[in-house]
Amino acid sequence: MNHLIDAKDLSIQYVNSLISDAHKIIEDPTLYSKRCESKILASLFFEPSTRTRLSFESAMYGLGGSVIGFSSADSSSTTKGESLADTIRMVSAYADICVVRHPKEGAALLSSRYSGIPVINAGDGGHQHPTQTLTDLLTIYEVKKRLSNLTVGLCGDLKFGRTVHSLIETMSQYEGVSFVLVSPEELHLPNYLKTNMRRKNIHFTETSSLEDSIGNMDILYMTRVQRERFFNEADYVRLKDTYILDNQRLSLAKPDLAVLHPLPRVNEIAHEVDNDPRAVYFKQAEYGRYIRMALIMDLLKKAKEEA
Ligand code: NCD
Repeated sequence: MNHLIDAKDLSIQYVNSLISDAHKIIEDPTLYSKRCESKILASLFFEPSTRTRLSFESAMYGLGGSVIGFSSADSSSTTKGESLADTIRMVSAYADICVVRHPKEGAALLSSRYSGIPVINAGDGGHQHPTQTLTDLLTIYEVKKRLSNLTVGLCGDLKFGRTVHSLIETMSQYEGVSFVLVSPEELHLPNYLKTNMRRKNIHFTETSSLEDSIGNMDILYMTRVQRERFFNEADYVRLKDTYILDNQRLSLAKPDLAVLHPLPRVNEIAHEVDNDPRAVYFKQAEYGRYIRMALIMDLLKKAKEEA
């Protein structure tokens, strides 16, 4: 069974084929409106979500399929003590494909071990979020017309930001990509990811200053400080407004910089930046629907071939 669990499942070839399918869908979505007729997507969100859940659900409806599921752990049998493994086993009998978001790292991998249908990881704790990466890559491709030879800045909570982890691992495969990691000391990228980059000879620098580094970037990926992963509120409060991208800081950047953010935004991008043509985060959220349509179609096709 094919699943999408982490960045290791996203080879260059696979990303390119999904981006190319997403392009075709963008050109004429009506051609795809019956592709998943009679198929059911189970949308299992044990953690809050707006874009990811709604874009998956909208993607499935756009393909002519239906959706079942829940949007919080409170409304599932988890509150009665059911294990994730049991929930997934049962969901396999009710749906053809499932999307899982869960606060625990490894939850999607565990789900895939008990599932009889394809599992898509929609975020497992502070670990990975591969469909956000697909969304990010489609956006970067649309803006830059390439995924290679780019200097990618990532700013904010690089420690707990799962979108950052998946994006770095996936983009590390592309020729000529280097990273500028902008974070306070306490929110540095986890060591295992830095070790992987060193092993692959990927060029990266770490800094705590956005002002000093923004001028070199082709892409700036802003992130929210992940309050829900902190052990203590005082640390969150101290760190939450470390970086705020405003027009004055943006004036130090290249004229063709692209500013991305997985959203939700809290304070890290001033609203005045929304009107700058370099701000692509709302477009990015829109692309999330099309790349998820491409992914659902692909995984369902592979499951059918396997059966
Ligand atoms: C991200 C997430 O859930 O990790 N949101 C999203 O899926 N678009 C980023 C975040 O919550 O900060």
